[in-house]
Amino acid sequence: MMNRPLGLAITGLGIALAVAAGLWASGFVVDRDGTAQAPVRTSGTALVGGPFELVDHTGAPVTNADFRGRHMLIFFGFTYCPDVCPTELQVMSAALDRLGDEAEAVQPLFITVDPERDTPAAMAGYIRHFHPSLRGLSGTPDQIDAVAKAYRVYYRKVQDGSSATDYLMDHSAVVYLMGPDGTFLTHFAPGTGPDEMADKIATYLAG
Ligand code: NI
Repeated sequence: MMNRPLGLAITGLGIALAVAAGLWASGFVVDRDGTAQAPVRTSGTALVGGPFELVDHTGAPVTNADFRGRHMLIFFGFTYCPDVCPTELQVMSAALDRLGDEAEAVQPLFITVDPERDTPAAMAGYIRHFHPSLRGLSGTPDQIDAVAKAYRVYYRKVQDGSSATDYLMDHSAVVYLMGPDGTFLTHFAPGTGPDEMADKIATYLAG
């Protein structure tokens, strides 16, 4: 017979294991240095993507429907990111450069996971450093939460304690390629080079 505290502890462990297994199964394998690895499953791709309502870097409202007919190359991150985000956005930009005129069929999007600091104005200042066609999308915390869920993007504020505005975000660092109808086509893991990214996008553009 089990005493009560031990029983509770075992129940708690069971729940923790079930949650961990669930996170693993859903593809959210998190790397603590801010380069969380998101969905790497090859099945169930229909689960990635969906409708969104956001605000672009000019302050104009945008929805997924605005990008119908074009491929979307999407990366989620934040402008204060010390290295992963700028690196991935540079790779996306370089891949689009390599595609030349073909890149006109692709709309690159940078969606913030830090809407508190990444206002449209902040996004506008930041995206200037990358491909000229890049659009920066922000929104209310609820809107960002919804789009991140739709794209299976994990993100979490990491407070370092020094001040309320001094923090980093842990987040998935995967680049998504979506089709002209908004469906998921493929993703690129962090560290993918621009040549590989451009080649793969070209195969999808060629249909
Ligand atoms: Ni980042």
